[in-house]
Amino acid sequence: MRSVVSYPERGAGGNNMYRGNCSPRLLEDLFGFYKPKKVFDPMCGSGTTRDVCLKLGIHHDVLDLNPEFGGWDALRDEIPGVYDMIFFHPPYSNIIKYSGHMWGNPDPRDLSQIPLEQYSQFIKKLSLIQKRLFTSLSRGGRLAILVGDVKKNGKLYSIQRDMAWLGTPEQVVIKAQHNCWSDHVDYSGKFIPICHEYLLIFRKDSCYILPCTISVSSEINWKTEEKLSWRTAVRLALEGLGGKADLPKLYKEIKSFAATKKHSDPEAKVRQILQTKPEFYSVDRGIWRLKQVA
Ligand SMILES: C[S@@+](CC[C@H](N)C(=O)[O-])C[C@H]1O[C@@H](n2cnc3c(N)ncnc32)[C@H](O)[C@@H]1O
Repeated sequence: MRSVVSYPERGAGGNNMYRGNCSPRLLEDLFGFYKPKKVFDPMCGSGTTRDVCLKLGIHHDVLDLNPEFGGWDALRDEIPGVYDMIFFHPPYSNIIKYSGHMWGNPDPRDLSQIPLEQYSQFIKKLSLIQKRLFTSLSRGGRLAILVGDVKKNGKLYSIQRDMAWLGTPEQVVIKAQHNCWSDHVDYSGKFIPICHEYLLIFRKDSCYILPCTISVSSEINWKTEEKLSWRTAVRLALEGLGGKADLPKLYKEIKSFAATKKHSDPEAKVRQILQTKPEFYSVDRGIWRLKQVA
């Protein structure tokens, strides 16, 4: 196994008609490398993990909210054993809905029912499940998580970046995606189709302490930044005023930047920047414009 994998031929096991199923060959490589003694899959979908374990002679437990695999809820129900490898392949938010589509009626416990608008809820629940899974890993055992990125309305939801990283990170494997539904959609060159997933492998090194990295979302406000060049501040101010402004408006706007506060003569500094930097040009006396990026 290498850090980039691609399986154009899916291989045998599971059900390729079950949407979002994964390649048995990925699991054969993963288990072939780590040689686990007992494997658990808490969201086994069409049973790919079960079939690979049967083929390789590995003890296993596989469950799913899908009644065909126990109607078991990864968020609440008891994990039936102790394992040295857990393969966790959750839904990618509600890109593919499982309950009500692939099986049964819509089930509020199904992670794929959480709308993308409640993405932070999805991430929270994912983290809770990861934490639970670690309790049933033996020391030295591994949690391997297969996740993808989602893009909607021009915004990327990178699950692997946003989810908690629990345990000792050991490996990131990029897996090329083949034969997915989006392969048949014509995006007319307006969209870079996502055709990879991540297999993230975390190890449990300690019985009591679980390393945990959580990404925190915040924002930078250029107006309150202390360190910003005058040239950037003037450009941002002019941009903020719609790309064109007279000097009094620009003077007022620039004074609202923390980085310009200490200057003894900010108005003279604004004029100096406007007259010497090529991204600005005067369209009339005292009226300045921002050059369009060619
Ligand atoms: C991406 S699929 C797994 C596909 C599987 N690896 C395969 O090859 O077929 C995700 C699965 O998570 C299940 N699921 C969603 N929410 C769940 C929950 N709370 N507990 C257990 N399973 C859940 C869905 O029923 C679905 O089968």
